[in-house]
Amino acid sequence: MLLQVKDLTVRYGGHLAVWEAGFTLGEGEVLGLVGESGAGKSTVGRALLRLLPEPGRIVSGAITFKGRDLLALPEAELRALRGAEIALIPQDPLAALNPAFRIGLQATDALALHRGLSRREGKGVMARLLARMGIADPEDALRRYPHELSGGMRQRVLIAIAFSCGPSLLVADEPTTSLDVTTQAQILRLLDGLRSETRVATCFITHDLGIVAHLTHRVAILYAGCLVEQAPTETILTAPRHPYTRALVGSLPLDGIMPALQGPPQACPFSDRCPERMAICDTAHPPLKSVGAGHQVACHLY
Ligand SMILES: Nc1ncnc2c1ncn2[C@@H]1O[C@H](COP(=O)(O)OP(=O)(O)OP(=O)(O)O)[C@@H](O)[C@H]1O
Ligand code: SF4
Ligand SMILES: [Mg+2]
Repeated sequence: MLLQVKDLTVRYGGHLAVWEAGFTLGEGEVLGLVGESGAGKSTVGRALLRLLPEPGRIVSGAITFKGRDLLALPEAELRALRGAEIALIPQDPLAALNPAFRIGLQATDALALHRGLSRREGKGVMARLLARMGIADPEDALRRYPHELSGGMRQRVLIAIAFSCGPSLLVADEPTTSLDVTTQAQILRLLDGLRSETRVATCFITHDLGIVAHLTHRVAILYAGCLVEQAPTETILTAPRHPYTRALVGSLPLDGIMPALQGPPQACPFSDRCPERMAICDTAHPPLKSVGAGHQVACHLY
């Protein structure tokens, strides 16, 4: 197993953003991490790199990557992994690039740091990757500043950077949501091409079930920081069990809003909005239970 996450719990001060989430990722596997805005998707993704925004803290749990305990690694060793072994395509492409430096300089940082390439060699590698990502004139793009590129170009650059050092784990955090539909589809196709060619295991964060259907092997559904269902993609799309997943897959309207946890849940986090709510749902948090091959669900119905 490439990656094993167990009971991951993350806080931002008084707000419990992720509670006891667990999943695994095999070599070359693509896991879709799905949930509505604020469910904790980016928090889980960034926790895998121990790269949480302030005041985020991993308060408990374990993350094992290639047999190494990531939470116990000294910061220096983690820096050697980030961008090399584990890469992130961040959710906000503009914030991820430094406006003061040309693309060519920032895009070759990881290659210089992790692979010992000169800037010139790095630019050669990046130019080939940018061309693969559909940038017509890579040399020109490398000479530009981030604000001189379109949103789609910036996202192509960030994807190329993520792939530059040949990572074995990729966290792709909604890599195309800020773009128009045509550009989205184009970039996703190119990203998936690179992914399948390099066989990099990927944690693909999205709220788009169309993307899930096309790009992932397995899906984990997050709701209010809790992992409520996990199954092979086909199972999630054709035989979802959790009432929240069923609403998502069936595009059913949901009244109310997702709660924000402060402490460990004492009830089902979905109970306010659940059409199948029972008395026990308000007094006990349902544990994740196995309901089939590779299929787990956290709901008192099962
Ligand atoms: N830096 C921060 N400080 C305080 N709270 C935060 C911070 N970052 C995220 N949160 C909170 O943690 C929860 C989970 O946030 P997260 O960004 O992981 O959600 P998400 O599922 O990625 O949402 P989106 O789809 O909008 O990107 C949210 O309630 C959010 O408000
Ligand atoms: S535990 Fe109860 S409230 Fe929660 S999803 Fe299941 S049936 Fe609905
Ligand atoms: Mg997010």
